[in-house]
Amino acid sequence: AQTLTFLGLESSCDDTAAAVVRHAPGQPPEILSNIVIGQESLHAAFGGVVPEIAARAHAERIDLCVEQALHTAGLALAELDGIAVTAGPGLIGGVLAAVMCAKGLAAATGLPLVGVNHLAGHALTPRLTDGVDYPYLMLLVSGGHCQFLRVEGPESYTRLGGTIDDAPGEAFDKTAKLLALSQPGGPAVEQEAAQGDVRRFTFPRPLLDRAGCDMSFSGLKTALLRARDGVIAEKAGLTLQDRRDLCAGFQAAVSDVLAEKSRRALDASPGMTAFAVAGGVAANATIRARLTEIARQAGVPFLAPPLRLCTDNAAMIAWAGLERFRVGHRDGLDLSARPRWPL
Ligand code: KG4
Ligand code: ZN
Repeated sequence: AQTLTFLGLESSCDDTAAAVVRHAPGQPPEILSNIVIGQESLHAAFGGVVPEIAARAHAERIDLCVEQALHTAGLALAELDGIAVTAGPGLIGGVLAAVMCAKGLAAATGLPLVGVNHLAGHALTPRLTDGVDYPYLMLLVSGGHCQFLRVEGPESYTRLGGTIDDAPGEAFDKTAKLLALSQPGGPAVEQEAAQGDVRRFTFPRPLLDRAGCDMSFSGLKTALLRARDGVIAEKAGLTLQDRRDLCAGFQAAVSDVLAEKSRRALDASPGMTAFAVAGGVAANATIRARLTEIARQAGVPFLAPPLRLCTDNAAMIAWAGLERFRVGHRDGLDLSARPRWPL
């Protein structure tokens, strides 16, 4: 095996990103650059990501991202060994921006092109950050995703279950909206919950009575709305303490569900080298502490990559592309962008 240096491109949601990753066999991979341009301010007024606005911004910014990634890495295109790009799943207009850019670069340089599934990028991140060996169990938990995966190889995944409706990050964001807290909701809810009383409101733990690893979070939002309106009806308003108690109750319900389903996923997966998380919700200290404890009980290390590599980025795409390339995968210039692409 040879040393490989890959450029990665990502534009499937609301971050435009480019990164360069190098790997010499037998050594830990090196992130030579990791550029992310977010779009939060462009979508803030709309209360969610607007696909057309995202697509246009990606198309306008992806070249700049690539330039910065190469500049920071101190490399010219000709010094690369390949180009990896997120080819889905995601907002199709956005995905196309990076795919077209990657194809252009590959056509101009003759470098190999490798299409990467965005979820594989997240799932392979613990190998980039911690050098974990296959097979390991992964909980991917973000604003758009929530699923348990057994990661058996760069092209081999077994899905054990996941949310049947909302992702937990989405539930945190909706909770923040209902309580007039700032967006993204996760950090705001976590901060208020720290000073709340978890015993005051008891929210449902959906699907805990059902076997397996599927989860549901949309009912929680309804329960929270009802509890909030109950308080408002009683006192003609919400105090800061009411908000804090509601946040604490909500966060406890999400943590309980994630912890119990993680326990079951680990139970059903003997021989794992580790239990890893990725996604924005993995930033939550209460949830992290619960998952750490579950991993300890199962006798496997708990891995949580640093936040900038847990959330959307292109270093994970460069790495996933590099791993796929090592096992012989290449794509042609006919690589297509896919809105849906199960792992
Ligand atoms: O992975 P990510 O950056 O983007 C995708 O969804 O792909 O995750 C963002 C989500 C948001 O819903 C945000 O509210 C949530 O992660 N989040 C958190 C925390 N920080 C971010 N949720 C709970 N607690 C946090 N501290
Ligand atoms: Zn993502």
